[in-house]
Amino acid sequence: MKALRCNAFGPIDALRVEDIPAPVPSAGQVLVDVHAASINFPDALMVQGLYQVKPPLPFTPGAELAGVVCAVGDGVAHVKVGDRVACSTGTGAFAEQAAVDASRVIPLPDGMDYAAGASFVLVYGTSLHALQTIGRLRAGETLLVLGAAGGVGIAAIEIAKTLGARVIAAASSDEKRALARRAGADETVDYTQPEWRREVERLTDGNGVDVVYDAVGGQYAEPALRATAWRGRYLVVGFAAGEIPKLPLNLALLKERAILGVFWGAAMAREPRQLLADLQQLAGWFKAGKVKPPVTEQVPLAGAADAIARLAERRAMGKIVVLPRG
Ligand SMILES: NC(=O)c1ccc[n+]([C@@H]2O[C@H](COP(=O)([O-])OP(=O)(O)OC[C@H]3O[C@@H](n4cnc5c(N)ncnc54)[C@H](OP(=O)(O)O)[C@@H]3O)[C@@H](O)[C@H]2O)c1
Repeated sequence: MKALRCNAFGPIDALRVEDIPAPVPSAGQVLVDVHAASINFPDALMVQGLYQVKPPLPFTPGAELAGVVCAVGDGVAHVKVGDRVACSTGTGAFAEQAAVDASRVIPLPDGMDYAAGASFVLVYGTSLHALQTIGRLRAGETLLVLGAAGGVGIAAIEIAKTLGARVIAAASSDEKRALARRAGADETVDYTQPEWRREVERLTDGNGVDVVYDAVGGQYAEPALRATAWRGRYLVVGFAAGEIPKLPLNLALLKERAILGVFWGAAMAREPRQLLADLQQLAGWFKAGKVKPPVTEQVPLAGAADAIARLAERRAMGKIVVLPRG
């Protein structure tokens, strides 16, 4: 089968499409014909050896997919050949076939195509876990989303609107802010402007926001924490800007703010029932038209490395989907 291969940690343009043997599902796994796989920021970090997880080399990147089950390993009862499924995989999704743990597979919701299914589990699962379980976002509260036009960012906007919150979306270009508005953001700010925190304060009558969803970090983190209201919650989701910020803890004390970490993959391993229940809730919201994975582009396997590079260089928005079967 064809797969995108990382033979050594290094530049993204060293990734190659190669012919390799198809994986064989072991006990508890299923083999999936991959119809779509989406690109996530960690893919770019992982192939460069910059992610917290370093898979043994060589490996196939790709962290979420949708497709059809074509074989099942021993002991798998709840998934069968022919099922349309979606799954977060960690690695292995940018290939014609992938062997995945059956316990992580969900049925593709009715009406969801493969491209949307490949853009659903990881980003929407992360954002629901962050906002509902960790951030306890409530109806009527105001949420600030940093990197709002990215994969987890758009999911955060749609989920927050479904929970009844008001959303201020921060993004770096007109095009990205327009995408955030289409996803439901009530207001947008250009956080590349030096006075952007003042704009957030103006939009909240000087009170600040109740919750910050920060998937970007770097220079944006401290102004965002400062723009958080009394007893606000600041969600640490990711560091797409590259730098892990160091925040003055007096900012937590002064307004009884809470700084809360979010790690969906680790939570999924520790509390799979809760996280799978989240995905069921999201599937219901999809069917009700409340969330819609923002597929902006679809590329063949041969275009995957270039697309990963564009995402790493801040030149992508929404979700880019790879179609390993052409
Ligand atoms: N904690 C968890 O469980 C969890 C789960 C999934 C993902 N994540 C993390 O969440 C972050 C976002 O992931 P994603 O897949 O949504 O990524 P994405 O689609 O690429 O979105 C990231 C956004 O970050 C912004 N950004 C700011 N500075 C950037 C830079 N120097 N390079 C690239 N982007 C920059 C970009 O928006 P602007 O151009 O508008 O600034 C971009 O839209 C990553 O750090 C990822 O590791 C965490």
